[in-house]
Amino acid sequence: MRSPIPDYMQEVLDDCRNADGGAVADYIPELARADPDRIAIALTTPDGSTYCAGDADVEFSIQSISKPFAYGIALLDSGFDTVLAKIGVEPSGEAFNEISLEESSGRPRNPMINAGAIAAHSFMDGKNADERAERFRERMSMAAGRELSYDESVFTSELETAYRNIAIGYMLRTHNILETDPDDVVRGYIRQCSLSVTTRDLSMMAATLANGGVQPVTGRRLSGDRAVRQVLSVMMTCGMYDAAGDWMTTVGIPAKSGVAGGILGVLPGQVGIAVFSPRLDSHGNSTRGVKLFERLTEDMGLHLM
Ligand code: DON
Repeated sequence: MRSPIPDYMQEVLDDCRNADGGAVADYIPELARADPDRIAIALTTPDGSTYCAGDADVEFSIQSISKPFAYGIALLDSGFDTVLAKIGVEPSGEAFNEISLEESSGRPRNPMINAGAIAAHSFMDGKNADERAERFRERMSMAAGRELSYDESVFTSELETAYRNIAIGYMLRTHNILETDPDDVVRGYIRQCSLSVTTRDLSMMAATLANGGVQPVTGRRLSGDRAVRQVLSVMMTCGMYDAAGDWMTTVGIPAKSGVAGGILGVLPGQVGIAVFSPRLDSHGNSTRGVKLFERLTEDMGLHLM
């Protein structure tokens, strides 16, 4: 029997497989062990149908794709006023790990760079790193529609070499953006980044955002419209870091990348998309993942404009 959507996805995947270049992230030692040839794509529509091709059930760590979700949970748990007073919403035009604090206030420029994400982590409910990480894991499991867990070796490996994030944490504490122990907050943030997901999971999470905060299979509302709008807006302007302008002009939908090679994209009301391939370009975005999105946008007219 002909199955046009899976056939089309397999074709896109095969066409982009050879888009080489880039290298697997190695500043987190455990990520350097990833198989660079993995490639996957998944789409989920608002009625909960998911279409996958390639290695869509292979697990990898969510990394920075956790940031928009943690920001959403922070808005829910601490309220817009508190979170907006401490974290800006302007693109930094800089790399994800730049210190990027506003000069006068010490506020991180946005919640998608590490500085802003470390701050956002601290505004999720929980007395300490473990409680906040557990809160995050529970919410993300609801969005994925299955019980997720943390990858302990990725967590330990990143924590052991997290000098830069710890430095950012201490800067944030100096400016009172963090109000508690920076070591504990950075530890929780790194655990958040080590959540193990598949491309299929990310596509379901993307569809939850596309669906205005309602998980498409369970029908459960996980967020209000206003928080979803806020999250998608910062993803659109800041989600791809110093490649955000390039991304917006070529692909044209809100998206977020992670250093393990995932990229999640959301076309509001229409579809959630996720791709995975571990080799990264100079901005820290998956090389083949960007190609896959460019191809999808060209074929399906995803661009918002
Ligand atoms: O904090 C870090 O450096 C990592 N846990 C996450 C960075 C990341 O995924 C950047 N995205 N492309």
